[in-house]
Amino acid sequence: MGNDKDKRNSASAKLRRRASDRLMPHAPEERAPLAEHERQRLVHELHIHQIELEMQNDELRRTQLELQDLNKMLDARISQAVDELRLKDQMLILQDRLAVMGDMINNIAHQWRQPLNTMALLVQQLPLFHDSGKLSKALLDENTAKTMKLIEHMSQTINDFRDFFRSDKEADDFRVHQVIDHTLSLIGESFKELNISIVVERDGEPAIFGYANEYAQVILNLLINARDALVASKADPAWISLRLFTQGGKAIVTVTDNGGGIAEEIMPRLFDPYFTTKGPDKGTGIGLFMSKTIIEKNMDGRLTVRNTDSGAEFRIEV
Ligand SMILES: Nc1ncnc2c1ncn2[C@@H]1O[C@H](COP(=O)(O)OP(=O)(O)OP(=O)(O)O)[C@@H](O)[C@H]1O
Ligand SMILES: [Mg+2]
Repeated sequence: MGNDKDKRNSASAKLRRRASDRLMPHAPEERAPLAEHERQRLVHELHIHQIELEMQNDELRRTQLELQDLNKMLDARISQAVDELRLKDQMLILQDRLAVMGDMINNIAHQWRQPLNTMALLVQQLPLFHDSGKLSKALLDENTAKTMKLIEHMSQTINDFRDFFRSDKEADDFRVHQVIDHTLSLIGESFKELNISIVVERDGEPAIFGYANEYAQVILNLLINARDALVASKADPAWISLRLFTQGGKAIVTVTDNGGGIAEEIMPRLFDPYFTTKGPDKGTGIGLFMSKTIIEKNMDGRLTVRNTDSGAEFRIEV
């Protein structure tokens, strides 16, 4: 502290000396009577003060400019860092989306199998009816109409999947139940095949401002995790319950399964990147980390988990 004060004193003494030097040539040469001499001394002193102030002002101005430059540079660096982080997040979201893509392709296969079989039957009917002379115009029309309907359905599935993999460009208002219905329509078939029933309970039509496809990606991650837990625990019957309601002005979705839940000792690491209990070929451990990032960073909400009597319960609040 004493050191600081000394430094300040010597700096101001230096300043005063420089100011006084600058004034020197203008200082009166000859001796004056005492009163006049005193007056001149005071004027001289005043001048020194004035010059001191001007010099201090100059210095301040220079420091201010330097600070402004520094600020600008810092701003630029921060915005660059933020851009880089956003890009990294975006890449992880994409990586996660690619991971669920494998699941999705499986789903397309499931969703197409039945209409494809039906279409095959409809086509094979035509030569049979023709050979037996029963191929009427009415039958042909009916057959065509049925086939067209199936083709429309299949083309709709493909559109749905394509939309899902599209990145959200801008945040927008969306109704949560619509996103959930949409997501369930994408994976419903493959869950049915595993004898997993999905029950949705909804209270009202909560809406969210955010990224609908990213939100769907979170729902999908939670559903796939629940499915894996149900398959691993061989739960019978196996079910997933989705509840959707509003609480405290927030849209809440809970996803609960009866797969036995999560061991308490791994709870603290559950949302860490690359934490998985599924083995290298099955899980990357990025699903929950990404889901938390999407909900908490991109949509300012919360994603939490707890065990219930039956199994894990994830809760999304936005
Ligand atoms: N519903 C659940 N029931 C029991 N355990 C779960 C459930 N959901 C997640 N977990 C546990 O949390 C771990 C991390 O899940 P996360 O989705 O992040 O990764 P993953 O499913 O293992 O791999 P990835 O999602 O990248 O394919 C899982 O390995 C599993 O042990
Ligand atoms: Mg997962």
